[in-house]
Amino acid sequence: MSTAQLILLDHGVAVLTAVLWLAAGAMAAAGRTRLALGLAAGGVLAAAGRLALVAVLADRGWWFVQEKVLLGAPLLVVTVAVAGVLAGRPLLRGVAPAPSAVTALFAAGYAALAGFVVTYLGGYPLTWSVALLAIAGVGGAVLVTAQVLAAPGPPSVPARRVGALPAGREPHSAAQHTAAGTLTRRRLLGIATAGAGAAGVGLAFVRSPSADAGGGAAAVHPASHGTPVTDLRGATAPAPGGAVRPYTVTARRASVALTSGTTVDAWTFDGTLPGPPLTAVQGDLVQVTLRNEDIDDGVTIHWHGYDVACGEDGAPGTTQDVVRAGEEFGYSFRADQAGTFWYHTHQVSHVGVRRGLFGTLVVTQRDAEPEDVDLVLPVHTYDGVLAIGDDDGVLAPDAVAGASVRLRLLNTDSEPHRFGLAGTAFRLAAVDGRDVNEPGEVSERALRLPAGGRYDLTFTMPDGPVALTVDGEVRLRLRDGDTPETGGWPELDPLHYGAPAAVPFTLDTDYDRHFTLVLDRGVAMVDGRPAFAQTVNGRGHPSIPEQVVAEGDLVRFSVVNRSLETHPWHLHGHGVLVLARDGRAATGSPLWVDTFDVRPGEVWDVAFEADNPGVWMNHCHNLPHAEQGMMLRLRYDGVTAVAGSHAMH
Ligand code: C2O
Ligand code: CU
Repeated sequence: MSTAQLILLDHGVAVLTAVLWLAAGAMAAAGRTRLALGLAAGGVLAAAGRLALVAVLADRGWWFVQEKVLLGAPLLVVTVAVAGVLAGRPLLRGVAPAPSAVTALFAAGYAALAGFVVTYLGGYPLTWSVALLAIAGVGGAVLVTAQVLAAPGPPSVPARRVGALPAGREPHSAAQHTAAGTLTRRRLLGIATAGAGAAGVGLAFVRSPSADAGGGAAAVHPASHGTPVTDLRGATAPAPGGAVRPYTVTARRASVALTSGTTVDAWTFDGTLPGPPLTAVQGDLVQVTLRNEDIDDGVTIHWHGYDVACGEDGAPGTTQDVVRAGEEFGYSFRADQAGTFWYHTHQVSHVGVRRGLFGTLVVTQRDAEPEDVDLVLPVHTYDGVLAIGDDDGVLAPDAVAGASVRLRLLNTDSEPHRFGLAGTAFRLAAVDGRDVNEPGEVSERALRLPAGGRYDLTFTMPDGPVALTVDGEVRLRLRDGDTPETGGWPELDPLHYGAPAAVPFTLDTDYDRHFTLVLDRGVAMVDGRPAFAQTVNGRGHPSIPEQVVAEGDLVRFSVVNRSLETHPWHLHGHGVLVLARDGRAATGSPLWVDTFDVRPGEVWDVAFEADNPGVWMNHCHNLPHAEQGMMLRLRYDGVTAVAGSHAMH
């Protein structure tokens, strides 16, 4: 079973366990002992099942079970044991159990529920605050239950039911006999509960550390002292033989028609969807003047996947101030990386990018023979309408048989897209703008492209029809023909594609820093407000400790997805080498990416050299997720971010 399925099953069994024990308590209180016995037996089985599941999940990684092993399971085991001791005998004999035994049945239910709530809302890592609050919650619920069950007088249904079964009742005198002891026990439990609750609340306000050194040396410079990131600017001249490519890009609102006639109330660069395609030849100097005409939320341009100098990175509040309406900002960098990239606003990007503030950036090699047909295909969803470029129908460019073809697929949405290329064998020539080593020819393979990612496909145009499908629908045809069915094709796995080649580091390398990022949902502060957030190690932006590195460090990330959603992880300023997924090493071509999909239950290990000083955003490229907290910074020791607002999205 996949880890994601185990996580889902664990949620289900946890809830079932709680329901069974609570129902057992209710039935016992109502005097329905047979039913209570059955439910409690079910509760025991469910609890055992939960423990078994936790054991299996533990094998997938400690991150998936930590809070269950340290808190949920012990709470459950203890309360179930107590329930067994107190309520087992009477229930087996068909006798209505005493109030304390009924309370114990409820307690097992509260414990199971608490375990589920901690897993669902708290997650990894378990904090003292959460643990104490959970214990206090169970204690408080037990106290209230005991109070209600002990209440004299019969206005409640349970009391009448009990009255209807006088045969098995404890004599009244016995109950009174133990009343004093019960009261003392209750008082003790009350004090413990109040103490745990108070401590839990207090600990919630303890400030988290502001930095994580990843097991390496702590920062030498305070975060506020060092080279301002705004001093880290790009080249001002092209490489020898290169040209200067000046562009002016204006951000403005516009109503833009897609090819079908559907109009989009868009935020645009230059009034088009997408923005103007930027191109360069390797070694050229790209100079872009960004003007903001009327985007009230402000804009910037981030060069996605392009390892520019940090001052050019376009992260508002980190590398520059946001460009307000009426303002402008100049970007400059040398086009050192050849390949397929894109650019987009980084200000309120979950809205801005979706509405159209993006475009493509394609850099070709100076000496390369150009393909006969070279198509740049940014896939984007505008108001629910999927389009390639501005074409929401079927593109039909020309390609004669024998022509060399390159399709540059870009996913500019926040969700993955699944592509199929029918009618020809092809090669996956590049991933995220980086060439694959010896890409083998494949056919009838689906390609799942992460949000933000790019795939370059190459092939020689055959005699017959060729079609490209996106999410199962034909969106591009090179020569007409039958519509193929691509839905059932197996996915091509880039971790096991192409030929191995020398890499600067592997799973066995001694890394200077190793950061673990556990992605989940949970209750956390996001931008100063509590939310059901998208979290990293249990926290939301901007409370996630920044990662500190030093120039020259070899850095490893382990990215763990505990949630049931896919998270396309994206580090600015650096391509990362994929080392392994779920502990199994990548075996194909060295796979350098800037965005990688960590699917539910997956664990990815990637590495990079810290060779581009700055303060870099490190976030989920499902942009609404980033907005909901899943975003942090990686800072080089000795570099400082721009002052002021820390709000980047
Ligand atoms: Cu393409 Cu910070 O993102
Ligand atoms: Cu995400």
